[in-house]
Amino acid sequence: MTAKQGSQSKSEPRSRNWTLFIGLIFFVVLFVLALQVEWVPYLNTYSSKDDTVVLDSASRHNRTISTINNSDNNYSNDFNNNDRTTANTHNPSHHDTATRPEPLQLEGNKEHNPFITMFPPRPPAEGERFLAYLPHSGFHNQLITLETALRLAVSLNRTLLLPPLYLSHKKQALVWKEPPILLKQWSDRNRTGVDYCRTIEPATWPRKNRKQREAMTEQERLIEHQCRFYHLWTTTPWTYFYDIPKILSDVVGVAGETTPIRVFSRPVITMEWLKDNLQVQDLQKEMYFFNDTSRYEYLIVDDSETDYGVKPGDEKPQEDDHSTLIPETMATEGKFSKRLLLTDLQRRPEKILHFGSLFATDRFEARSQRQRDLKRYLSKGMDLWNQAILDATQMAEDQIKVWSKETNRLASGFLGVHLRTEDGIFEKGAPMNLQRIMVWLGEMVKQDRSRYSSKLRLRQRADPGLVPVPQAQPAAEAAVQPSQVPASPIPTTSDEAVPTFLERCQSSPAESPMIFMATDVHQPRSAPLLKEFLDQFPCTMFLSDFQESDALLESIRNPVDNVLMWPYMVALMDANLAAKGRAFQGTDRSTFTAYIINHLWPEYHPEAMSEYK
Ligand SMILES: *[C@@H]1O[C@H](CO)[C@@H](O)[C@H](O)[C@H]1NC(C)=O
Ligand SMILES: *[C@@H]1O[C@H](CO)[C@@H](O)[C@H](O)[C@H]1NC(C)=O
Ligand SMILES: *[C@@H]1O[C@H](CO)[C@@H](O)[C@H](O)[C@H]1NC(C)=O
Ligand SMILES: *[C@@H]1O[C@H](CO)[C@@H](O)[C@H](O)[C@H]1NC(C)=O
Ligand SMILES: *[C@@H]1O[C@H](CO)[C@@H](O)[C@H](O)[C@H]1NC(C)=O
Ligand SMILES: *[C@@H]1O[C@H](CO)[C@@H](O)[C@H](O)[C@H]1NC(C)=O
Repeated sequence: MTAKQGSQSKSEPRSRNWTLFIGLIFFVVLFVLALQVEWVPYLNTYSSKDDTVVLDSASRHNRTISTINNSDNNYSNDFNNNDRTTANTHNPSHHDTATRPEPLQLEGNKEHNPFITMFPPRPPAEGERFLAYLPHSGFHNQLITLETALRLAVSLNRTLLLPPLYLSHKKQALVWKEPPILLKQWSDRNRTGVDYCRTIEPATWPRKNRKQREAMTEQERLIEHQCRFYHLWTTTPWTYFYDIPKILSDVVGVAGETTPIRVFSRPVITMEWLKDNLQVQDLQKEMYFFNDTSRYEYLIVDDSETDYGVKPGDEKPQEDDHSTLIPETMATEGKFSKRLLLTDLQRRPEKILHFGSLFATDRFEARSQRQRDLKRYLSKGMDLWNQAILDATQMAEDQIKVWSKETNRLASGFLGVHLRTEDGIFEKGAPMNLQRIMVWLGEMVKQDRSRYSSKLRLRQRADPGLVPVPQAQPAAEAAVQPSQVPASPIPTTSDEAVPTFLERCQSSPAESPMIFMATDVHQPRSAPLLKEFLDQFPCTMFLSDFQESDALLESIRNPVDNVLMWPYMVALMDANLAAKGRAFQGTDRSTFTAYIINHLWPEYHPEAMSEYK
């Protein structure tokens, strides 16, 4: 094309000008169009390019924010109404202590899942030393980081400054940055002077054309800008979703621990807040700050049992000479550029030990038995206890039982799968990841077939016309050829109305398994990517099939800032329901999948953990 144009332009200069002219017109038209189109602020995806940040399944839903007051849903909390209007993250005393039940430190509150901290402000204890870090990235990355930080706090005998959980649309994502930048972004995530945005719903604003936009006053522009961003992020205490008190106290007895893990609520991620709340005179002297200049700057080496490179002479440092206490910074292989020895960190005398990023599952080694025990304890012990999500999941499970009976399924229960298809590697790898899931499902069907062979025969004898029994497949063949699984007699066609779950499943063979797929695919029932899958596994359900559960979650707002929690809730509900499956298969390298495999599935299937890989 270019070569052809080139040779033409030599002989025909007028035609070249003509091409340029057309091109110019094209760009002008594009530009004008771009000006006319309003930026649509809400929900597209919840993932970001930042590593494998996930809350991806929320994106499948095509919808906008609705205006629903939170007064009539039971999943907010008893958050004081007067507080609501003055909520301001820079005023740590805005939570009226009198409205909270006492004591909070180690007591669960399963019924209410408060949006306020369960660890109320307190003065630091005499001689208390702290551990801090800068949270960033998506939900699961923050969870992984929290686990690392809790383990480090135990290992260093320090109180963890517990940050909030940051939830956002990807336009407001906090990805890893050098500490000065990340700190600035954190301090910009405040609600100072924008309370009026609480009740302004950007999604209900009508689109404006260029003329209308030009007619806006400066003030109107400012309001539009501020309130749009206002609703794209929120924070909650970790206790809103997880039973943190349990994990703090139950550590006693694990790996020889004799005291609970100590935390101190840090709702505001700024240096000023540390000064004001930890009784620190001079941060320079009383805080050691790891100013990480790259994303994976340091690996924390577990040298508690083996000596990994402490130089002679460093072993007995002088009490007043802190320079020898600066941790080892040796080059490492792999993604981390430096190594910090745990024993060095243990010797740091400063009141606050402040890290930048602590993200990555392998950030803090677990070589010793003690560290391995602690690590396992922390990753298994983080129980999801958000009542709304648990209830919504239960509703869906009940519905699945009804459907399973109605459609006369051979096997009881359902299989959980997770398919991630958005962003980078997942987008490219989607067909392959889907194929892997289908192969796995084929294997599961084969197992069911042998497990339920007598039931199948009985059923066939009782009603030969009802349940077709396919020929048994040789093991190897069945495993690599998922197409051997009997397909639905109702294929999907793009031009007809999309058949519902029941329509498809009811007429499929009894051995076709009930499947719940957690996915970020938009409108999965009519998505071309999933056509073959749905033809082959017609009893596949998606979150959109559970309207009651969805209705339960859609009206929940964070009463602190009035931001709608729905996008974050459905993503977790999706994961939670998939984890209820009798077996689970996910997407390689997705932290959403890792979350299900490491946290949720073991929580729901303790009996099967030994045989599950
Ligand atoms: C979202 O839904 C509306 C109607 O409910 C439809 O007009 C629109 O095309 C949908 N958008 C996408 C991206 O599916
Ligand atoms: C929300 O509640 C306020 C007062 O409680 C009321 O004025 C407003 O109309 C309500 N909005 C909706 C959409 O129900
Ligand atoms: C809230 O709880 C009360 C009882 O505690 C119940 O009667 C009511 O139906 C619940 N409302 C919702 C929206 O679930
Ligand atoms: C850990 O810290 C607590 C409180 O700061 C202190 O009482 C205790 O002696 C420390 N334990 C060890 C083993 O240093
Ligand atoms: C609050 O955030 C805004 C930007 O969102 C920023 O300009 C302002 O400085 C922040 N306020 C404080 C006290 O950090
Ligand atoms: C961290 O390093 C940057 C330069 O990369 C510097 O500007 C900043 O002041 C340092 N911050 C702290 C807290 O030491």
